[in-house]
Amino acid sequence: MASLAVGSLAAYGADAAAGAVLFAPAGAQPLAWREGLAPKRVAIVGDVQRTGMLEMLLLGRHQNDAERVAVLRAIAEEGPEMLLMLGDQVVTGDGRAWEYFDSIMTPVRRAGIPVHGMLGNHDYEGEKTPACIENFSQRFPHQRDRVHGLTRLGPVALLTVDSNFPSLSDRQVQEQVRRYAQTLAELDAAPDVRCVIVASHHPPYTNSSLHSGTDLKQVEEMFAAPFLRARKTRLYLSGHVHSYERFVAEGSGKTFVVSGGGGGPRRTVDITEHRPYRNDAYREGTLRPFHFMVMTVHDDRLAFEVRMLVQRGAWRFRTGDIFDVRFT
Ligand SMILES: [Fe+2]
Repeated sequence: MASLAVGSLAAYGADAAAGAVLFAPAGAQPLAWREGLAPKRVAIVGDVQRTGMLEMLLLGRHQNDAERVAVLRAIAEEGPEMLLMLGDQVVTGDGRAWEYFDSIMTPVRRAGIPVHGMLGNHDYEGEKTPACIENFSQRFPHQRDRVHGLTRLGPVALLTVDSNFPSLSDRQVQEQVRRYAQTLAELDAAPDVRCVIVASHHPPYTNSSLHSGTDLKQVEEMFAAPFLRARKTRLYLSGHVHSYERFVAEGSGKTFVVSGGGGGPRRTVDITEHRPYRNDAYREGTLRPFHFMVMTVHDDRLAFEVRMLVQRGAWRFRTGDIFDVRFT
């Protein structure tokens, strides 16, 4: 197993021992992007939000500041050509929470890594929706006109959708479903597109006992079912569950990954014979490590390595899961 040592966290504004961020830069700090990106190596992380006060007090969930900083520092050291964030960048969508996000993203920003973000349910909380989206847009100004939708990454098409149904109007949901179906059809017909990745913050399938404002059955019907029917779709990414899961759809062999290991309070996954989905291809333990993924784009496949944090203090990562997603 490959391992990656992570150096001094204090250099990036966080005290690893105390788990405290020592500074918050003044004003919103925009992240990089470049049009026409065709990245060969992409890092993916989900759910870097802090644990809420009520979650800590009422539910006894941990605050993982040092782990979160370690994950983002490791991503910057990995030096990918792009970072995809699967939503829940912040615990609430207010300015203070986003200033904390600015702080922890310092190594990624200094490395000049282009970042594509998605909205999670926490990003919509604490403020009225326009204020939440404005705070998001200040960090992702290249997505100001369209947070979710199609992003072309060379021969790969990344299609992100907004699964935060309680924060959307019925009309917005229906319009998104219509556009989603139309875009999948256009990508299937496009000669220069070889592989389509779909990403929603909420997963259509999980073996965690998760309570969610979004009905995951609705995610399955609206997004996963058309994904399974489309021709070039190969990979469905999601976060929200603070764990790591990988499923392979029976019949089509298409891959579904749940990656929410960026620092939010960890949740267990059912690995008993009574688990809801038995097509899980990764079955290592119930409480899975903090992690991020590295995706390498080859001519005929996407190669994944999942970097899992295995040692607090030494801040070492190991490759915890390896898999390929093939396309023609
Ligand atoms: Fe979430």
